[in-house]
Amino acid sequence: MQFKVRFFPVPDFLLDYMQENDFDRISMTARFVSYWRQYTDIPFAQDVAGYIHAKEVIEAFLDEYHIAPAEISWYAPLFEVRYKSIVEAIRRKGIRQVIELASGLSLRGLAMTRDPAVTYIETDLESLTKEKAALVSVLRQKYALADYGNFHLSPANALDRKQVLSAAGHFHKGGPVAVVSEGLFPYLTRQEMETVVRNIRDLLQMFGGVWITPDFLLKTDSTRALASRRKVGKAIVKLTGRRLHETMFEDEVQLQAYFDAAELRVEVLNQVELTQHVVSPGVLKLPASIIESAKPRLHLWLLTPMSLNHRLFMVPKRRLQR
Ligand SMILES: C[S@@+](CC[C@H](N)C(=O)[O-])C[C@H]1O[C@@H](n2cnc3c(N)ncnc32)[C@H](O)[C@@H]1O
Repeated sequence: MQFKVRFFPVPDFLLDYMQENDFDRISMTARFVSYWRQYTDIPFAQDVAGYIHAKEVIEAFLDEYHIAPAEISWYAPLFEVRYKSIVEAIRRKGIRQVIELASGLSLRGLAMTRDPAVTYIETDLESLTKEKAALVSVLRQKYALADYGNFHLSPANALDRKQVLSAAGHFHKGGPVAVVSEGLFPYLTRQEMETVVRNIRDLLQMFGGVWITPDFLLKTDSTRALASRRKVGKAIVKLTGRRLHETMFEDEVQLQAYFDAAELRVEVLNQVELTQHVVSPGVLKLPASIIESAKPRLHLWLLTPMSLNHRLFMVPKRRLQR
């Protein structure tokens, strides 16, 4: 059976309205990320791409916006490094309870909970979570995955405090948590960001722990971005109805001021330095230098509320490998 995808771009006159509404339009971007992840060795990435017909989805998108697939194959290594650096940051912090906001079709939780000592809650909007639950049961069967009761899929709008706190109901009090958000903030307005930051702070006040995110975009980085990236950016605005560039921070100074105002203590790591091996450049025959040239822009922020008593420090790698 042929799988057909159609896109309906948001007309300019509706952008202001969309900016405040309809988060579900953003969900399509989770499918794009899944397409690029299939060129990596990230657990379940090929299965996810096959299950959601990622090839057909991306082809229809690129066709609609006149973008050649080869122009943007460098997305694969960027998404690979982003995903893997978060896994490594969680490991180094020695945290065993994780809640991911806007987890899309990423299955880091399913992969990490093969260790029964880890509890992982993946959240996203309701419709995407429903689809993901069906996918997870297919994967459980296919790979005969043991169910230790430590992996949870919970629908939660990241802006809805009640839904977010209710999803966290699976955690044990007394152990710190990592809150992960990967690829959500670029789609939010400043006001929406503030609401989500408040929800994350509430979680961290309750359990202790750290917020791990690669999500802050700096204009100083984006001016150096490739023309093809800007083209994709414009297409994503049309698709999601979200003005991505409007919530970018001018530079690191402005971002630090934002963290200070939100009373967040920050540790900035580099995604590439956290990632041991990257396979997608080899798979897609891209120059190995692609990672090194992107490296200065690939930050991972680890944030803790200043008022938090639970202080977490990096656990030396040797201790984690024992
Ligand atoms: C770019 S995708 C990233 C998905 C995933 N983190 C990944 O890296 O593959 C953005 C995700 O944000 C989700 N999203 C958008 N608005 C949301 C909201 N208000 N609450 C929760 N999730 C939201 C979308 O459904 C989508 O899955």
